[in-house]
Amino acid sequence: MKKVLNIAHRGFSGAYPENTMLAFRKAVEIGADGIETDLQMTKDGVIVICHDEKLDRTTDGSGLIKEYTYDELLKFDAGIKYREAFKGERIPTIDEFFDYVKDKNIFINLELKNSIINYEGLEKRVIDKIYEYKLEKSVILSSFNHYSMVKVKEYDHNIKTGLLCAATLYNPGKYVKDAGADAYHPFFPSVMDKSIVAEIKSEGIMINTYTVNKIEYMDKLISLGIDGIITNYPDKLIAK
Ligand code: G3P
Ligand code: MG
Repeated sequence: MKKVLNIAHRGFSGAYPENTMLAFRKAVEIGADGIETDLQMTKDGVIVICHDEKLDRTTDGSGLIKEYTYDELLKFDAGIKYREAFKGERIPTIDEFFDYVKDKNIFINLELKNSIINYEGLEKRVIDKIYEYKLEKSVILSSFNHYSMVKVKEYDHNIKTGLLCAATLYNPGKYVKDAGADAYHPFFPSVMDKSIVAEIKSEGIMINTYTVNKIEYMDKLISLGIDGIITNYPDKLIAK
């Protein structure tokens, strides 16, 4: 059976505070093949890593990221809400992340968080950063905003894109191909079916599913022939 890509969701977020440099380092240390992470943009146009548009759930700050400059964000702690012992983690920038992963030879999935707030110019800024760090072969961009992924291809056809989807689409392979994307990033229950996976594969589209945390589901998806598993527990997938 072919090897499935083991992609750490928000870093090794099952055991460390999500989307922090600590969670990214731990994912690499245990041997994950890749990292999935989420991008937002500050008031002064700095691309930062955080799942939510707001600071409240994962940091000791509050309000929207886009209302703060990057310097202002530095005073917030991104580890303490997960556990006191992880106090001191900051919200990483895309530069810090790229600087760490650039020589690690891992698969990098950057999710643009632009379906709630459509950050002006985010696509172009991210593409420029990818080239600055020479990571164009390792990165795939994804988003629930499929217009944004079409825009990425219009800017640069060589940048790989994946379409995120929580719904059980009809003929997803055709849909993804029609949008010019390289991959489908479905919520995993929507592709737990041989004929759906076959339809996607018949269009030559890669399938990376999220967020698969139970071994029984990992096994089932692997047997169906999906390409990548995005999980909070890359350790479970390695241990298999
Ligand atoms: O990219 C896969 C997954 O992260 C999408 O959903 O909400 O966890 O960012 P979310
Ligand atoms: Mg995500």
